[in-house]
This record gives sequence, C-alpha cells and structure tokens, in this order.
Amino acid sequence: LTFIQPPQVEWASGALAKGPLLRKSTRIQDLIEVFADEPARQQLAGEHVVYDVEMLATSSAEGELYTGVTHLYPGHVGGEYFMTRGHFHARREQGEVYFGLRGKGLLLLQNEHGQARLENVFAGSIHIIPGFTAHRLINTGNEVLSALAVWPAIAGHDYAALAKGFTLRVFEENQQILVREVQNG
Ligand code: F6R
Ligand code: ZN
Repeated sequence: LTFIQPPQVEWASGALAKGPLLRKSTRIQDLIEVFADEPARQQLAGEHVVYDVEMLATSSAEGELYTGVTHLYPGHVGGEYFMTRGHFHARREQGEVYFGLRGKGLLLLQNEHGQARLENVFAGSIHIIPGFTAHRLINTGNEVLSALAVWPAIAGHDYAALAKGFTLRVFEENQQILVREVQNG
C-alpha cells in the first residue's frame, strides 16, 4: 500500500505545489476602469502584474470544491491600493472561505443592496464569505498579500454586476488608510 502525496500549500509564501495547477496573472492593462483614477492607470506600465492566482486543477462537477491562492502585489493606482477586480458568484447563493497567509490587507464584502464592510486580512485570518456577497482583496501593506480560497466549483464568477464598482474605495493618504464612500456603486 502506498500513501498518496497530496497537493501542498507552503504557508509562509502561499505557494501551491505537487499537483496540476492553473495560473492566471492580472496586469494593470487588464483592469480597465477598475480604479477610480482611470487616467492614472493608463500612465502606469500595462504589463505590470497586480495579482497572480494559482489554483489546483480539480473537478468542476457540482458538489466539488476549488482551491486557489491569490498573490496580490503591493502598489497603488492614483493613491488607491492595488486590489483584485472583485466579483459576485454567478450562482449568487454560493459562499466561499478565504484564509490570510501573508501580508496585510482588507477584504471588501458587499451585499446586493450595496452595503459594504471591510475585514482585516493577515496571516491566520479566516473570512467566511456568505452567499449573495461580492468580494475583493485590497493590499494595504508593503509586502505581497497572499490568501488561500476554497469555493464551490459551480459558483462561477459574475464581474459585470459590479461594473460600476463597489461602494467603498480604499486609498493611501499621508501614509494612512483612507476609506471613501462612492455614490454610483
Ligand atoms: C474565487 C475567488 C478568488 C478570486 C481571486 C481573483 O471565487 O474569489 O479565487 O477569483 O482572488 O479575484 P477576481 O476573480 O475578482 O479577479
Ligand atoms: Zn469568489
């Protein structure tokens, strides 16, 4: 009898290993109109990577779970911290769990009525994202923010529903975190 070697996450770096992986990089040039200051985004080097996602290539069947790590790099666009695009799940009722691995940041959660809240993300933090709740990671630190996520394979992503953005935006001003409410969220 042999013991199966499972995939691994290296807790300190968030790197996934020992399994077939899927990888996706999201660059400045991919994030059109995601940040408040679109002209500032256009001034930045388009190829610069804002975040990488690595996920285990596992079954997409109903009832199965996906596992992935997001590595969100430090940076700003017009003073607004680097962040993920953010999404609702296409299957709105499907939740997700995020675990902070390294770095420091915020998880922005927003319900379908536009009510938003922010949770601190740090190594060891656990985030229960309920159904019907859009989610976005924000890196407020100077290091890479890495978080592990587990979500239902059938959840899917709906990016279009948030095309006008979330109702909160997070900026750095005078070395402080500044949260702004936005009207057209
Ligand atoms: C999956 C999930 C994460 C994100 C990842 C990138 O449901 O929430 O794996 O997909 O953090 O963010 P988006 O998908 O918003 O570009
Ligand atoms: Zn999700």
